[in-house]
Amino acid sequence: MSENRSDRIAQAADIIRRGGLVAVPTETVYGLAADATRDAAVAGIFEAKTRPQFNPLIIHVTGAEMAGRYVEFSPFAEQLAAHFWPGPLTIILPRRAASAVSLLVSAGLETIAVRAPDHPIAQALIKNVDRPLAAPSANRSGSISPTKADHVRQSLGDRIDLIIDGGPCPVGIESTIIKVAGDGVTMLRPGGIAREAIEEYLERSVSDAPQAKNPEAPGMLASHYAPRAMLRLNANAPQHGEAFLGFGEIAAKGADALNLSKSGDLLEATANLFAHLHALDRNAAAHGLKTIAVAPIPMEGLGEAINDRLNRAAAPRGGAL
Ligand code: TXA
Ligand code: MG
Repeated sequence: MSENRSDRIAQAADIIRRGGLVAVPTETVYGLAADATRDAAVAGIFEAKTRPQFNPLIIHVTGAEMAGRYVEFSPFAEQLAAHFWPGPLTIILPRRAASAVSLLVSAGLETIAVRAPDHPIAQALIKNVDRPLAAPSANRSGSISPTKADHVRQSLGDRIDLIIDGGPCPVGIESTIIKVAGDGVTMLRPGGIAREAIEEYLERSVSDAPQAKNPEAPGMLASHYAPRAMLRLNANAPQHGEAFLGFGEIAAKGADALNLSKSGDLLEATANLFAHLHALDRNAAAHGLKTIAVAPIPMEGLGEAINDRLNRAAAPRGGAL
């Protein structure tokens, strides 16, 4: 790690120790990090994002050993963590009775969402602070998640103490969230680890959280990840006055068209999703286009998470988030 970078991390760690807010790159998206054990710092996250207090946060740790100080691991949950951490898998586990994590983090639930990010800067920061970091995506509540430092600057720049620029986030979509009960696994949010990867490891299928008005992951409300423009999904070509987000062969030309992956690669498409939506949304606003049409994305592998975010971005607006 360059000297410059380790200075930056030491500065960030100081800010967090004093109760401040730092945007930090992870492998999935930029997180807005604060000391998860300090109520006032955690409250600051909700305020900066204008996030409803009922929507709990994920805590970030270096690994399972550190997580074990705050949540109860079953042997089965331990195996999952050993296999998938560090990486984009968030596991919901029971809070330890003596857990130092602020009650605001879990918004009144008896569980805490925890993950170990697979990113050198996030790991170094957690290690330096030596506390779990509460970190939601570093964007205003309801808008598109940030995969570049510039996205954070535009959305929260004037509301936070520091942004560590670590370049674009390699995975580009938020972590997969699972709940573990007994030896059953329920998927609460599709994300950077494909369902198939978990099923292959478990050698059985993963169930879905029932569709509910009050979803088990309270952040999973219909309208989320919303750009300013409207979205029209499963489009084979743009109509007059539309920007276009292509995939593979289904593509368009011109200044208001981008392709998630020319070769139809879902890993590449995932990494590009939010950055392309940010860019097209800006172009659409500049050129007076009201809609971004989006090519169909296959529902396999990471395509499940891409479709999830696109569906939420296309949902009617005006909900609490
Ligand atoms: O990749 C990620 O997960 C990123 C990076 C920064 O780590 N973080 C992220 O956080 O996406 P956020 O706050 O945007 O989404 C967290 C989700 C929300 O939908 C929230 O409702 C859910 O996790 N959640 C948090 N704690 C929970 C709990 N105890 N039970 C169920 N869902 C929980
Ligand atoms: Mg978010």
